[in-house]
Amino acid sequence: MERKALYAGSFDPVTNGHLNIIERAAKMYDSLTVAIAINPNKTEFFTVEERVEITREVTKHIPNVNVITFDGLLADHVNNNCYTAYIRGLRATLDFENELQMAQINAHLFTGETETIFLMTDPKYSYISSSIIKEVVSLGGNVEGLIPEYVEKRIKEKLSE
Ligand code: COA
Repeated sequence: MERKALYAGSFDPVTNGHLNIIERAAKMYDSLTVAIAINPNKTEFFTVEERVEITREVTKHIPNVNVITFDGLLADHVNNNCYTAYIRGLRATLDFENELQMAQINAHLFTGETETIFLMTDPKYSYISSSIIKEVVSLGGNVEGLIPEYVEKRIKEKLSE
């Protein structure tokens, strides 16, 4: 049976912290689906179409990764697609309580055998988030090593629109 994993988030935009999780999870499973949330509760910087294109571009070197969008309840998507694992990255203890709550409600909502699997974020990336990256780029700060060059270029283009 194919062992499929899912990694969901806003990815607005994808950072090297996300990519580190994606690369490691892709080695652990036959396929990894990166699911970009259409989330009406979060103000978007990149449109969902742009986020898909950017994420596809920076993951194109990983053959078993595919990028999709989803809306609504994550558990519905999981239940309709029979994933082996739902991947989450943990950056710091700050993430823990929120992640514990999400994992527990998802365990209640998942109807199949899908397990939430936590990967510890590489310490190089434990202090970054998509928002902090956008803020630093917008103020002219150095983000070398924290996001792919392509993502930095796209943020700058978007800011100049
Ligand atoms: N490296 C760098 N940054 C990381 C990271 C990592 N490894 N892991 C998380 N982050 C950042 C993200 O970029 C994000 O930054 P931002 O808030 O500035 O955009 C922040 O940490 C939070 O990430 P995450 O907790 O993954 O939130 P998200 O908004 O990216 O995604 C969903 C959350 C979409 C997975 C969740 O809200 C969801 O499942 N929604 C669907 C509706 C639903 O089912 N709700 C019930 C869920 S139990």
